[in-house]
Amino acid sequence: MFDSTSTTDALSIRESFAGKHVLLTGASGFVGKVWLTMMLELVPEVASIRVLLRRKALLTARERFEKMVNGSPAFAPLHERFGAGFASYLMSKVQLLDGDVSEPNLGLATHEVMTLRRDLDLIVHCAGLVDFDPDLRKALASNVDGTMYVADLAASSQRAALLHISTCYVAGKRYGRIAEEVQPDFAPIAKNFDAPRELELARAAIARICAEHDRPEHIAKLRLDAEANVSAKGVADRGRAIQGELRRLQREALRQALSDEGTTRAAKLGWPNTYTYTKSLAESLLLRRKHELRLAILRPSIVESSVRYPMPGWNESFNGSAPLAYVMGTWFRAIPARPGAPFDVIPVDHVAQAMTNVGALLMQGRAQLVYHVGSSDRNVCSVGRAAELIVLAHRQYYRSSYASYRVFAIARSTPMRCSPRSRSSSACTCRSCTRVTTCSRPGRCVASCPSSPNGASSPSVSTGVATGSRCTCRACAAGHSL
Ligand SMILES: NC(=O)c1ccc[n+]([C@@H]2O[C@H](COP(=O)([O-])OP(=O)(O)OC[C@H]3O[C@@H](n4cnc5c(N)ncnc54)[C@H](OP(=O)(O)O)[C@@H]3O)[C@@H](O)[C@H]2O)c1
Repeated sequence: MFDSTSTTDALSIRESFAGKHVLLTGASGFVGKVWLTMMLELVPEVASIRVLLRRKALLTARERFEKMVNGSPAFAPLHERFGAGFASYLMSKVQLLDGDVSEPNLGLATHEVMTLRRDLDLIVHCAGLVDFDPDLRKALASNVDGTMYVADLAASSQRAALLHISTCYVAGKRYGRIAEEVQPDFAPIAKNFDAPRELELARAAIARICAEHDRPEHIAKLRLDAEANVSAKGVADRGRAIQGELRRLQREALRQALSDEGTTRAAKLGWPNTYTYTKSLAESLLLRRKHELRLAILRPSIVESSVRYPMPGWNESFNGSAPLAYVMGTWFRAIPARPGAPFDVIPVDHVAQAMTNVGALLMQGRAQLVYHVGSSDRNVCSVGRAAELIVLAHRQYYRSSYASYRVFAIARSTPMRCSPRSRSSSACTCRSCTRVTTCSRPGRCVASCPSSPNGASSPSVSTGVATGSRCTCRACAAGHSL
């Protein structure tokens, strides 16, 4: 793919990007970061990549960028490759823009917008709020308004094509085969859906909820709660503490109401959450402007750990399967899903490669309107199989960490027992039992476990596993049966 040789019909990435100016949004995110570093390392022919970052938590865009370049493992291959010359290479290729996609003109100064309109060949719009139940205002601002402002820039520029990163879950709650196509004004279960009208209604609902939360009756009720909370804490400066607590409660109540509003609207129209609802709205609105854009939409499934780039297994996503894999190593042992359902994950470096390919096709005028980037079509992994693999991974992890654990246990030469804390409840929290749901004999869960850290002769810490005779204590994580 990154080979510099080309034939007439083949796609040469390097030739396509040579001398081209690209704008990237979402560069601080999981996907954007990998795309940026891959481009910088593997497609040095690109003339420039303008990176739009917003200021955050008292850090300017530049400070955030520097922190990311120096601290994120995604940049390790670049540091290795360029060594001391990395900073100058970066400066020759990357220009930083302090902006926010949810603001008109992306929050940029007029002269910056003029330059972009003149220079850009491609906009890679990767910014988005990847939160499933956010405050509806934030989701609309980043996912819908953000996409429209980026489209404004593309439409008003001399030649910039727009690659919009969406998600294949805009399809919503539907079963069976779903065509890989985009439909204007699409909603999974609503007939005669009108996206601009829905946007209007959503904004009206937001305004109504905000007004309700400003009503004196609502504030008076929250004040009572605030007073009760402060009294319970016994704070000295009561007046100030109540004001602070009231503000916190108001913020929290409004956020919750707006999050519920997003979830309800999404569910009514057939989407599983506010994220997919707003991403789909953005697609619908983009399609209405298709005539003024050179547009391609890329829809990945669940973006997951890399195969190769920036390194095998790298993952930074909080919304993918990594948290699922993590919690399955704790006392959560059930995934509420049909075991045969496809668990469509796609490595982040594959997604980044697809973005590059589609970007190149777009600039050459050869791109389709929509591309799906997933694995189920040819390499399906079911939820059941994913659960098995996660269990195997945990088992392997505990097996390999068992040797050092054994040394530790022998060195202490005291049998480990459930912590006193665990005695008050049925949940055991001792070192040995943290991996099980319940301990059948809290405080005395010493059973004879032949694989114990102390050897078969001495009692070890094991647990009665509520569901069967399989021991899952750390020593027995290999699945030893008692
Ligand atoms: N991760 C997945 O599994 C997955 C699957 C399918 C599709 N996608 C799509 O892929 C894209 C990237 O996802 P990701 O996983 O990389 O998400 P991520 O790690 O949460 O990153 C989101 C990026 O968007 C930026 N952003 C959000 N709102 C912004 C705003 N108002 N102005 C400027 N930047 C803003 C964030 O910047 P800050 O750092 O300033 O917040 C961050 O760089 C999204 O469009 C998402 O819908 C992701």
